[in-house]
Amino acid sequence: MEILTANQAAIAKAAEILTDGGIVAMPTETVYGLAANAKDGTAVARVFEAKGRPQFNPLIVHVADLATAETLAEFNDAARKLANAFWPGPLTLVLPRRENSGLSDLVTAGLTSVAIRVPGHPIARELLEKAGLPLAAPSANRSGHVSPTTAEHVAEDLSESVDLILDAGPCPVGIESTVLAFCEDENQPPVLLRPGSITPDNIEIATAIAPVAIGQVSNDHAPSAPGQLSSHYAPKARLRLNVDRPEPGEALLAFGPDVPPSSGPVINLSEAGDLREAAANLFSALRELDSAGCGSIAAMPIPWTGIGGAINDRLLRAAAPKR
Ligand code: TXA
Ligand code: MG
Repeated sequence: MEILTANQAAIAKAAEILTDGGIVAMPTETVYGLAANAKDGTAVARVFEAKGRPQFNPLIVHVADLATAETLAEFNDAARKLANAFWPGPLTLVLPRRENSGLSDLVTAGLTSVAIRVPGHPIARELLEKAGLPLAAPSANRSGHVSPTTAEHVAEDLSESVDLILDAGPCPVGIESTVLAFCEDENQPPVLLRPGSITPDNIEIATAIAPVAIGQVSNDHAPSAPGQLSSHYAPKARLRLNVDRPEPGEALLAFGPDVPPSSGPVINLSEAGDLREAAANLFSALRELDSAGCGSIAAMPIPWTGIGGAINDRLLRAAAPKR
């Protein structure tokens, strides 16, 4: 395994590894992804193996542009509108997979749908262009761990099994993409499968399309939502939510200017109370507090407004009983 600063030479090397069936950790604006050629089943299998995934969850396919995405999935007008509004960027669309897409069945876990996005990170974009391949990429962590937002996080989790890590520093968004699913019936609104930095309000304001929550959808129209396990982004420590006062020796995940006294390690997600800053810091803070070995992490309340919904979603999963 090699970690290289993501300059031109490193990107060219990464493209070559991907073309030859290897796997590369690449930065995206959300989190680092573990990328493989989405048309090469053996390469995709290596991704699952590296992550130690208990089952084959379907992966997101990353492409350079909408035109390429249209060769893999069937876009209706609403999906095209969303793509035009938010790509490149942290929005994943789940759409009917084209029959002649050429994608490995492992990428879509045998489903008739495929999840696609055009990432906004300049290094991911250059890599996609240089490799000229659709890249299947889950978050580059071992299964069950929190998502990596730095190259060091990737190395901690996957050093043995990845051919190359492209290091472009911390990911600016820090939380995984918003996932929206369209079902076969074009007249149904898209369903929010995973909240992210692009919120339902952002979507409605930009496109006049109002996504519905998965809980609001009748069974007839529910898209399959594999991988939405309640315990997922788990630190080793117990995580307590909405805590005003930490217990003695407990680690504290703080938010905002008013931090209660505490005798354990403290990381403030955003002293200014800025939710975007908090999202960008969330996963590295969880990793760091977890490695302090306190056994328990207390998280202060995070407002549910804007990207706060996605932060609370990840905290709830991290706090859920481990399977
Ligand atoms: O920000 C992100 O989305 C990052 C970066 C690397 O792009 N990727 C990421 O991938 O978070 P992953 O594999 O950790 O999460 C993909 C999510 C899972 O919840 C999976 O179940 C869902 O997308 N998904 C993928 N394909 C799907 C499909 N055909 N139908 C429903 N859900 C799907
Ligand atoms: Mg993941």
